[in-house]
Order: sequence, then C-alpha cells, then structure tokens
Amino acid sequence: MKVSFLAPFLASLAAGVPTPPKNDVVSYDGYKVLRINTHGHPSTIREELSGITYEQWNRDVYKHLDILLSPDQVATVEALDLEYQVMHENLGESIAAESTSRSVWKREVGDLSWYDSYHDYQDHIQYFEDLQKSFPNNSELISSGTSYEGRNIYGLHLWGAGGPGKPAVLYHGNVHAREWITSPVVEYITLQLVTGYNNGDAQTRSFLDKYDFYIVPIVNPDGFAYSHTTDRLWRKNRQPPPKNGNQSCFGRDINRNWEFAWDANPLGASTNPCSQSYKGEAPSDAPETQGLDKLVRQLRDGAGIKLYIDWHSYGQYILSPFGYKETLYAPELGKWTKAAGIVSETIRDSSDARTTFTFGPSGATLYPTTGAAPDHVYSIGRAEFSYTIELRDTGKFGFVLPPELIRPTAEEQWEGQKALLSLLDEEFFDGEGPA
Ligand SMILES: *[C@@H]1O[C@H](CO)[C@@H](O)[C@H](O)[C@H]1NC(C)=O
Ligand SMILES: *[C@@H]1O[C@H](CO)[C@@H](O)[C@H](O)[C@H]1NC(C)=O
Ligand SMILES: [Zn+2]
Repeated sequence: MKVSFLAPFLASLAAGVPTPPKNDVVSYDGYKVLRINTHGHPSTIREELSGITYEQWNRDVYKHLDILLSPDQVATVEALDLEYQVMHENLGESIAAESTSRSVWKREVGDLSWYDSYHDYQDHIQYFEDLQKSFPNNSELISSGTSYEGRNIYGLHLWGAGGPGKPAVLYHGNVHAREWITSPVVEYITLQLVTGYNNGDAQTRSFLDKYDFYIVPIVNPDGFAYSHTTDRLWRKNRQPPPKNGNQSCFGRDINRNWEFAWDANPLGASTNPCSQSYKGEAPSDAPETQGLDKLVRQLRDGAGIKLYIDWHSYGQYILSPFGYKETLYAPELGKWTKAAGIVSETIRDSSDARTTFTFGPSGATLYPTTGAAPDHVYSIGRAEFSYTIELRDTGKFGFVLPPELIRPTAEEQWEGQKALLSLLDEEFFDGEGPA
C-alpha cells in the first residue's frame, strides 16, 4: 500500500518541477534561470541538455534557450561547455524582491505609485472600480464571464461623445497568469484614456469618440490569484485534468483553447494535461474561454471589432494572425504589418531604453499556436486588426520583471497605442498614393 503513496511523490521529484505542498507556497529558493546561447542550433543545445530536467521559459529559441533549473541541476549544467548569461542567480530572491504585501488599494486612482509595485487580485479589482468611479458618465463595469473557480472576469467599457455604440477596441490582459507585467500595462492605458478624456485632451477624446473600449485586465483570474498565493510561475487556468489524464496536472492554457483552428496543427498546442500549453479536451472547454468568446461574438454582432490586443510577456513582439500555420498569410497582412511597424518605431523612439519590438505574422515570426485568441478574434470575431503584444523584456529577467520596470514598460505601450489608435482608419492602407 505504501507504494501507491510513494510512487507519485518520487515521480514528481523526477520531473524536476516543484510540487506545492498542500496549502503551501512553491519555493524557488536556489533555482537558477539561465539564458543559453544556441547560435542558431537549438537542437544541438537541447541534445547537450538531454540528461537534465528543466523548464523552458521561451519558445523563440533560434538564438537563446531560457531555462529554469532546480538547485540539484545547476552544477551539472554549469559543468557543460555552454555559453550563457544568468537571468536569475536565485529565482526565489528575485520573486521576494518583486512582491509586496497586500494593501487593498486606498489611494487616488491617478496616483502613479500604483505602478511602482505589483499587486494582488483584490487590489486590482479595487483599482478598476476606482477607475470606473473617476469616469462615471462614460463607463460601466462589465463582466466577460466567470472563471472555473467562480471569479468574475471583470472589465470596463468606456465610451465618448454620443454615448456607447461605436466599433470596439478590445484588450485582454494576463491570460497567462505569471505574465504579471500585462495587467498594469492594460491598467495604465485605461488610466490614460480616462484622465485624458476628463482633462479634455483632444487626441484621447478622439479615440473615445470613435471607439468603445472594452478592457479586461485579468482574463485568467484563478491562475493569477494562484500565481500570488502559491506558484509565481503558474501559467494556465486552474481547471482539473480530464478523468483519463494525470490527476496531479491542473489547468488548461486558455490561449490554446479558442475554437477557431483549435485542432489545425499538432505543433500548435499540447494534448498532455501536464504541459504548459495544454489545449483542453475540446474547443472552448475552459469556462474562461466561453465567457470571453461570448463577449467577442456580442461585439462582432454589434458595431463590430476594430482592434483586438491580447497582452503577454515576454520577448518584445507584435504579432498578427495567423498563428496556427506558419505559411498562411491573411489578405490584410500588409496593413497589419505596416501598422505594427509604426507601433514598433513609435515605442522605440519614445523610450529611453529604445525598446525594440519585432513584428510580423505570429506563426512565421515565432512558432505555430493553435486555439490562440488573435486568430479566433480575427476569423470568428471579424476584428479588423488583431494582435498579440509580447511585452518586455527580451530575456534579461523574463517573467519576473523587476517592479521598477513597470512604469517605463507601461509608458512606452501608451505611446504605441496612441500611434495605433490614430491610424486604424488611415487611407494609406488602401495602397493608393505616390509610388
Ligand atoms: C503526473 O504528473 C506529475 C507532475 O507533472 C508527474 O511528476 C508524474 O510523473 C505524472 N504521472 C504519470 C503517471 O505520468
Ligand atoms: C455626469 O452627468 C450628470 C448628469 O448629466 C452631471 O450632473 C455630472 O456632473 C456628470 N459628472 C461628471 C463627472 O461629468
Ligand atoms: Zn503569454
């Protein structure tokens, strides 16, 4: 009988992934994150690492492989003849440095010190309610459904002159729980829209007078809460595994679960419930995806979707459809690429760090993804523009981005959005004009 208890325990040790003791926090003390140079030959490096258990952080591996190593694996990797930089000398310490105690936000909504630290789920709800109260006649709190654990997927609907009813701009933040930088970026953009409008800023007013904004800062609330309470590196939702799957593996990757082209490419997602990119048993079988999709279809059947952005980190990319097939180019790819290029240039020129964003169709630029939101919101939601934006950085800190980088990351994205929102209706996309 003892064996049946021991076996899963030993197996989880062997996988090298820390298992949370019940009601306890996963510790990354002594864990190291290394960025290994692959010199264009990632498979050679993977072979060298074949005897080692690690979690891979990035999938754009042509130049680098970012890997998380448990303390007992570190020496073995360091003994290999590899070129690498250390992203986190001790991930446990980096996580301790970024986290703040719970505060339940009580300051003025315009107080930018909100962007000097990360916040837990309750504080984010409070912040969004405060944003709504500061724009009472031009906004309403909305829900984009309910999570597996019963949390409301809250958001804000904002509008300008003439009341609601214009084409939609839809933003999704934090679908991947550990990508903490995404929700403050989406909140900062919301704050700029609200305060700009309230202050009579002509450009901001023109955005809200033309489009209705639907802004959902945390579309995966269960995963996000879990990344605060238990495992900082949690990515998926918190749905239990299917009956025939490994019962210790929770979560579906909401961004591999959307209906459109869900099953179109075996390389685009995983069928293994233990994988970080587990697609689910059927399209849209995550409650979060169902709720989010319902709003997408409502907006489509209303005034239509002008722009959709799914905010992620990390890597600094602006990616348009299609994700599910590298060689498939949509007829709108020209205008999407042109717009992404302008956003990229605007961000670079606006930031002291001269942050550089790579842009292009998702599958060809990065790797294939099936069941991802931007393909669905374009193909089913008929969005005119549909992007994934992967925020900072390019592999210095990865998911655990220090809090002092929240503000510059948010500020440059607001610059990028101003450029993008200004050009959505531009004539030059028709291809007319001087040769
Ligand atoms: C189930 O998943 C755990 C956690 O990833 C793993 O350690 C274990 O080996 C898996 N069990 C089986 C039977 O595959
Ligand atoms: C909202 O509208 C009401 C009624 O028209 C008006 O009295 C109030 O001043 C407005 N509030 C703001 C903040 O603009
Ligand atoms: Zn992501």
